[in-house]
Amino acid sequence: MTLIFAHRGSAGTHPENTMSAFKEAARVGADGIETDVQLSKDGEVVIIHDEKLNRTTNASGFVKDRTLMELKTLNASNSYKGKMGNERIPTLEELLIWLKNNQLLCIIELKNTLFLYPGLEEKVIRLIRSYEMEERIIISSFNHYSLVDCHQLAPEIETAPLYRDGLFMPWIYAKAIGGSAIHPNIRVASDIIIQSSMCAGVPVRPYTINKESDMKRLYSLRCSAIITDFPGIAKRVREEF
Ligand code: G3P
Ligand code: CA
Repeated sequence: MTLIFAHRGSAGTHPENTMSAFKEAARVGADGIETDVQLSKDGEVVIIHDEKLNRTTNASGFVKDRTLMELKTLNASNSYKGKMGNERIPTLEELLIWLKNNQLLCIIELKNTLFLYPGLEEKVIRLIRSYEMEERIIISSFNHYSLVDCHQLAPEIETAPLYRDGLFMPWIYAKAIGGSAIHPNIRVASDIIIQSSMCAGVPVRPYTINKESDMKRLYSLRCSAIITDFPGIAKRVREEF
């Protein structure tokens, strides 16, 4: 069965990367969630997609220039349909505590391409280990050097490279950097890539699958998982399939 990961929580229906979005993903029966992490000025692992605060909060400037206490004063639902609700930026620790009470899987994307955030890998791994969540977490990133570091630091935690453009035999590439799966953009997730990778024992989890036609294609291929902004729709389409 193709697993359903709720992208940034349930970003199509709730303010992205907030606890209400993660809870919605659980409510509609997603198998897992996907989320993005960065470091605050005082080195806390926080959940937010953009390096800048402008789009998703009521502040401007970079995440890395604010302490956790400062970030916690912001409204994190700014981007969603004219400020739905009044959400806070969660920390990764808060998310892990919530995940301990359910069975959801979780893809943690390290947002470390514009800023490298030295120490981010160690901090994320320390948190995962301290909550004994190694079996339920997948670490992903567009920064593949960072994934190599993660694999060396914690070979027991799955890593998966994200990529947008064509990669030659990505399943071989993933294994070469210590990864155990691939997370391609839907544009480069062709039938042959998906089938070849899965035949080689490397799961494929394309993003961001919001069209029902794409969901149906991936379900018919028995693709390992999809990452979608609309986990409720993905669940219904899967049940009807
Ligand atoms: O995990 C897939 C996807 O989240 C990567 O793109 O920009 O939504 O973080 P982005
Ligand atoms: Ca992401």
